[in-house]
Amino acid sequence: MIKDNSHAKIAIDGPAGSGKSTVSREVSRRLKVPYLDTGAMYRAITLKVIQQKVGLDDLEALDKLLGSTQIRFGEDSKVYLDGEDVTEEIRKPPVNELVSPVSCISSVRRHLVAVQQSIAGESGGIIMEGRDIASRVMPDADYKFYLDASIEERAKRRCKEQLEKGIHLSLREVTAEIKKRDRIDSQREDSPLTVVEDAIIVDTTGMTFIEVVDNIIEVINEGMR
Ligand code: DC
Repeated sequence: MIKDNSHAKIAIDGPAGSGKSTVSREVSRRLKVPYLDTGAMYRAITLKVIQQKVGLDDLEALDKLLGSTQIRFGEDSKVYLDGEDVTEEIRKPPVNELVSPVSCISSVRRHLVAVQQSIAGESGGIIMEGRDIASRVMPDADYKFYLDASIEERAKRRCKEQLEKGIHLSLREVTAEIKKRDRIDSQREDSPLTVVEDAIIVDTTGMTFIEVVDNIIEVINEGMR
C-alpha cells in the first residue's frame, strides 16, 4: 500500500504524439514525483548510433556502444549523452526516422529496460513514460495509463511541436512518419506497444492538455482515498 502520491509508481504508455511527454511532465510537477522519459533514452542511443555510423546489424559494435554510453537527465528535462546536451538533437528528423528500428533491437531493449528498472527500484515514487512501461519495465506500477489520440490529432500536434522549433514539415509527411512508427512499435517482437489489461485508457482526441492532466490526477487522488 502506498503512503501518498509522492510514493506512487505511475506508468504512462502510448503511441507517438499521444501527448505522453507534456502530460507526464505536468503530472510530475503537480504531484512532486520525479519523471523519466524512456523514449529520450532510445533517442539518445539512436543519436550515438548515427554519430558513430554503427550498422543496426553489427551487434558487436552495438554492444560496445551500449556499454560505453552514459545517458543523464538534468534540470528542465535536459538530456545529456556522454556529458553533452543533446536535448534538441534527439528530437530532429534523423533521429525520428531511425529510433523505431533501433528500439526493435533486443540488446538495446535489454540494456535500457535494466537501467529503467534500476531507476524505478531506487526511487520512492516515479512517473515513467514510454511504450512498454506497464507491460515490461514496471508491471507492478500502482497506476497504468494508456494515452491515445486519433492519427490526425497526433500528426497535428507533432507538426506544431516541430514548427515551434523552427522545423517545417508537411502534415502529410508527419502522418506518414507516425504511421510507420506506430507499425514498427506495435509489431516488433520484443515488448511491443500494447495496452495491458489493467490500463486506464485515456483518449485525448479533442481534450486539452490540462483536461488530460486533471483526468489523470483525479484517478490517482481517487485511488488514494
Ligand atoms: O516517445 P518517443 O516518441 O520519444 O519514443 C521514441 C521511440 O522510442 C519510439 O518510436 C519507440 C521507442 N520507445 C520504446 O521502444 N520503448 C519505450 N519505453 C519508449 C520509447
